[in-house]
Amino acid sequence: MKKVVTDLKVDGKVVFVRVDFNVPHKGSEITDDNRVRAAIPTIKELLNRNAKVVLLSHLGKVDWKKLAKGEKTQEDIDKQMQKNDLSIVLPVLKAHLDKALNKDVKVTFSKDTRGEGLKQAVSSLKSGDVLLVQNTRYEKGEEKNDESLAKEWASLADAFVMDAFGSAHRAHASTYGIPSELKKEGKETAVGFLMEKEIEGLGRCVSPKDNERPYVAVLGGAKVSSKIEVIDSLLKKCDKILIGGGMSYTFKKAVFGVNVGMSLCENDQLDYAKKCYESGKIVLPIDNILAKGLNFDDLSAKAEDIKPLEDNNNDFPSDYEGADIGPKTIKLYSDIIKGAKTIFWNGPMGVFENEQLQDGTKAICKACKEATENGAFTVIGGGDSAAAAKKFGYTESFSHVSTGGGASLELIQYDGKLPGIDVIEDK
Ligand code: 3PG
Repeated sequence: MKKVVTDLKVDGKVVFVRVDFNVPHKGSEITDDNRVRAAIPTIKELLNRNAKVVLLSHLGKVDWKKLAKGEKTQEDIDKQMQKNDLSIVLPVLKAHLDKALNKDVKVTFSKDTRGEGLKQAVSSLKSGDVLLVQNTRYEKGEEKNDESLAKEWASLADAFVMDAFGSAHRAHASTYGIPSELKKEGKETAVGFLMEKEIEGLGRCVSPKDNERPYVAVLGGAKVSSKIEVIDSLLKKCDKILIGGGMSYTFKKAVFGVNVGMSLCENDQLDYAKKCYESGKIVLPIDNILAKGLNFDDLSAKAEDIKPLEDNNNDFPSDYEGADIGPKTIKLYSDIIKGAKTIFWNGPMGVFENEQLQDGTKAICKACKEATENGAFTVIGGGDSAAAAKKFGYTESFSHVSTGGGASLELIQYDGKLPGIDVIEDK
């Protein structure tokens, strides 16, 4: 068991909290503030106990590695930094904190990510204040877990709380380096409430007990290649894996030998897909909805044409691509889900952004809702499936909706072990 924020002595102390404020945004407008809201309970707990709270997070990417290799220019980096300025989060954060604490919370922003400016900003904090620090990825050393950067940040902190589940699979200076340094000095580290919930919720998908089976995974998303390790791991853990979305067309070509037209298909993964299918645990769509002329710049735009493909053994027309599961598959998958006791879902079944192509993804939400109501434990592994459940109004119908896409897959793949969890001390 990891130490939790409530186990720390924080009165009057400077507590560095790694949050995941990597929020979707258009310019300075945050389009989904779920990750900010998810971090509030931990911050509130610390403020109620008179801590001085310093929040660290990344936002988007800053390609320092590509700059070093000459694949990006300094101008590209400057643009990325401008685009990923974390100060856009400040007003939203302040509004949520004021509401949660029912008072005017002092929340300031440090544009400096290290050096004298940051030191000053931290030392002027009073108990009950919050300091949000500029994007950690403005620092070249962040993703490299640079020792001097981690040491400098750690030197300003009395304790560290990890609450950035979405980044717990990254061993960076702000997720891994700081707690490692603090532990050397005998200072306390803990996980926050969000992490605690994620570890518990996703942990139930690592090794369900006999009475929590059948265990069914529903996997979608574009590429087989990006999910090889997690598929391997789920094949050992699950009773069935229902495949949908872009990756199902690679499986269809591999298993049924059909031509999948313009669908996403990774020809170099056909042997792997076939081998997985031989496990007897993989279930593939038996019918599909095909689309012609999808607009990839605006997936919500009407396709030129859509039509059903009712038989698995038929080739797709060469100018169409698979864009959703069909009604027979919806029935098959829904029945399997409703008969399961543990369900882990990652990746939509089709182009859910498009009204014509969202029935499959909606049906998974609906079947999971019924499963939850019948006592099953239902989990969404972040990313697009969490966005889809939100869009269709099903977020509350799941037992747990993870805030981390990559992190939730890796947590299952590595049996609950992630760098950002392992580095925190046990109780
Ligand atoms: C996420 O959005 O998945 C997390 O914030 C991690 O972001 P990263 O993939 O850029 O490290």
